Amino acid sequence: MKTFLTSTVRVLSAFACAWLSIAVAFGSAASPRERIRFDAGWRFHLGNDWGTALNLAKAGSSAGPAVLSFGDATWREVDLPHDWAIELPFDKTADGSHGFKALGQAFPQNHVGWYRRVFDLPATDAGRRLSLEFDGIYRDATVFVNGWAMTHHESGYSGFRVDITDVANYGGKNVVAVRVDATQAEGWFYEGAGIYRHVWLVKTAPVAIAPDGIFVYSDLSTASKDPSATLHFRAEVANKEKSDSPVSVRWEVSSPGGKVVASAMADGSISAGGTGILSRTAEVQAPLLWTPETPSLYVLHTKLFDSKNTVIDEVDTPFGIRSFGFDADKGFLLNGLPYVLKGTCNHQDHAGVGAAIPDAVQVYRVKKLKELGSNAYRTSHNPPTPELLDACDRLGLIVMDENRVLGSDPQHLELLSDLVRRDRNHASVGIWSLGNEEWEVGETASGARVAAAMQRLIQEQDPTRPVTYNAPVGNSGDGVNSVIEVRGWSYHIGESTMDAYHAAHPKQPNVGSEQGSSVGTRGIYSADKERGYVSAYDDNAQAWSNTAEQWFTFFDHRPWLSGGFVWTGFDYRGEPTPYGWPCINSHFGIFDTCGFPKDNFYYYQSWWTNTPVLHLLPHWNWSGREGQAIDVRVFSNCDEVELFLNGRSLGKKKMVRASHLRWSVPYEPGALSAKGFRAGQIIAETKVETTGPAVSVNLVADRTTLAADGRDVAVVTVALKDSHGRVVPTADNHVTFSLEGAGKIVGVGNGDPSCHEPDVYIAEPKMQIRPISTWKWKQISDPWARPMPEAAVSFDDSNWAAYDVNASNGPLKSGVAGVFRTKVNVSAEDLQDRKIDLWLGKIRGNGAIFVNEKLIGRGFGPWNSTVLDVGNAFHEGENTIAVVVNAEQDDAGLIEGASLRLPEKSTTPQWSRSAFNGYAQVIVASRTLGGAIRLTAQADGLKPSTIELHSAAAK
Ligand code: GAL
Repeated sequence: MKTFLTSTVRVLSAFACAWLSIAVAFGSAASPRERIRFDAGWRFHLGNDWGTALNLAKAGSSAGPAVLSFGDATWREVDLPHDWAIELPFDKTADGSHGFKALGQAFPQNHVGWYRRVFDLPATDAGRRLSLEFDGIYRDATVFVNGWAMTHHESGYSGFRVDITDVANYGGKNVVAVRVDATQAEGWFYEGAGIYRHVWLVKTAPVAIAPDGIFVYSDLSTASKDPSATLHFRAEVANKEKSDSPVSVRWEVSSPGGKVVASAMADGSISAGGTGILSRTAEVQAPLLWTPETPSLYVLHTKLFDSKNTVIDEVDTPFGIRSFGFDADKGFLLNGLPYVLKGTCNHQDHAGVGAAIPDAVQVYRVKKLKELGSNAYRTSHNPPTPELLDACDRLGLIVMDENRVLGSDPQHLELLSDLVRRDRNHASVGIWSLGNEEWEVGETASGARVAAAMQRLIQEQDPTRPVTYNAPVGNSGDGVNSVIEVRGWSYHIGESTMDAYHAAHPKQPNVGSEQGSSVGTRGIYSADKERGYVSAYDDNAQAWSNTAEQWFTFFDHRPWLSGGFVWTGFDYRGEPTPYGWPCINSHFGIFDTCGFPKDNFYYYQSWWTNTPVLHLLPHWNWSGREGQAIDVRVFSNCDEVELFLNGRSLGKKKMVRASHLRWSVPYEPGALSAKGFRAGQIIAETKVETTGPAVSVNLVADRTTLAADGRDVAVVTVALKDSHGRVVPTADNHVTFSLEGAGKIVGVGNGDPSCHEPDVYIAEPKMQIRPISTWKWKQISDPWARPMPEAAVSFDDSNWAAYDVNASNGPLKSGVAGVFRTKVNVSAEDLQDRKIDLWLGKIRGNGAIFVNEKLIGRGFGPWNSTVLDVGNAFHEGENTIAVVVNAEQDDAGLIEGASLRLPEKSTTPQWSRSAFNGYAQVIVASRTLGGAIRLTAQADGLKPSTIELHSAAAK
């Protein structure tokens, strides 16, 4: 229930004294809010085991991995984010649009993954509100906490929260288990599988700022010479107490330079169990406006006080002061002025890591796009990872933030609302997109109604940003297009389409939300269907799409189209258009999957930047083609370009804006070079040379100093060079990698769209299985006796019958109970890291398991094994195990074997990757222990290379 507040604004000076004392009293105290990164220390198991873990009959009684007593000693240790799809082999019978990974309906063994983490909570957390925040799980996740089935969340792209306050064990151990089912795809492109975004544990006071409850936006007045901004602050406060709570909120804005430039206060009372919104405005004179070129970030500090002026919550929100809009004639407007969008569409997928993109790789990718001259990013076709938006805020890209699918039922609207609330403070988020190419409903009356409802919801929650939708139709104003604020164009350039539509709908703004789809493989200059390569000359558009030059030329003369978003910035797995197997990833990117530029990079850079660009293609290694004509092209923004072969001029040509130059050059080895002119002056020179064979491996990292936090990464380029230090554009040597010191390799790639080498090399956990075969059994009358006499260590079982635990039927008749007993020895060494599982094949009947007289867990039913953590229940020497079974059917008992399972040290895998056209990539992460990281790369017959990185603890 929302509480309407009649708040009063207090001027800062009137509050100054109280404020000062609060600052003294609480300035250094930790905020009552804690947001704890919850990525490390998970265990992972692939396979649809523990199918019966979910118990919907009784509360808190889910079983198997869902409970604390479960033994996961032999599960693999993983840190999040994690994508298990990247680890699967390629299979030509798998779904090509998802990248031929052995996932989907035909591979049931790979559908389901289990994640599990045991964690402690201090007793002092009692009384606080605790929740787990999952930023994204692909897909269909069931979350269990301490045996309670908490939440079922299907969307693979939206985040969700699980309030664990009531089920937490304070002052003790807790377990969260997540069953992830990736059977059902959501898209038609590689989507990954698993907990591929961050997880957080959030602790707050019972009265606190609601999740995503802060909103700050600005009204910008750019009319006068000295612009000013009215900032709107809003804080939604949730009261989980049993009584109404008077609160006050203080907002303070720091400028990019750290100066306080605005503040405000409001107070009110939040009713018991309800939420209330407090809001105020404040003025900022001469604000530093956020633009992609000047990404100035302000920070809103929000403090929440109770009636005693104690700080009960505190949140910092970075934001930008700027405005976004569209004009039907002038196109996109940034801060009131026409601004051409130079955007790319991208999926969340990178070489080596798949969908689980480390934050530092998000930054790496955004930096690549900035080098290209891009200023905008479309998160096709789903809500993005928050850290991508952070990178766009900081480095400057305007984001078209896209919802997954159309839908105005409560569930879809809730997902949309979650997206808007989560992302609305980001400086970079400039346009909301309702979705992409809804073929079935996009042009229908129902599509229009649904889109209108969605647009209305966005406008209610965020009055500041325009809304669009990527419409796959030409001159049609039906359906979604009839209601949408900004008409989005998916391809369809042309006079009869775009121009005609604009003429018919002169008041509706337009944007090229998806354009291009030109295909090309890095470093390849002729089609090779067998190997799945397409030439990188910008010649290959698909039937529905256009080359870079075609769409850009059309848009270049039409400011009302606002610019466009190229499909795509980076190659991604899946959609191997125009081929299928053996090709496993797309060719649409301006960059390949590693972020290595293709030739089209220079086309866009020529027309998206003012920096002089002069680029020659192809490479000049055409041994065997001497005398044959080579198609030479130049991407450049120079006025004129003169081409030379081995010093001889091949003539000068004038560049027409948005186009390219072309020569036909009979091949001779040597140097093909060019000079670029502006106003008659040489402003750029370049050359491509015939190289010798590769003689050395070379490593260059994007960063050499990493934070020692176990998650920061360096992206290392592997280049194969000839004896003159020139990258050999055709080299494909197999390179192996080894790493010493405070780091680990997390992924490798090479940008080859047909490479089936692994992206990751997993140290598969090994286990030692010690069968427990000597058992005895006896019928008992009271299976519920506590203590259980027959479980006692000293109990004399000498006259019990011997029992074959490997039998497939038990000895118990329906309605009868029995005890199965054994003793096992473990050494001090076995107990060293307290990781021992007791594995019981099957328990037919109702089972209770005792170790050294203590009840440690329950049987997991007749379909799954019962696996219990006995690491702490065991002691050195002899241990007594007693399994009490109460039969509900005949043939009940402990059956199908029993053993102890101990994890063994797994062998470090040998990482390797072949280069593709001269290059490969290695992603290296830090560990939490700081220090030097030495990465060595070697290939047969080539000089190896070692690079040293440094990781240091944050100050
Ligand atoms: C579009 C679609 C994209 C991608 C692209 C390939 O129609 O929106 O997701 O499939 O085609 O050209």
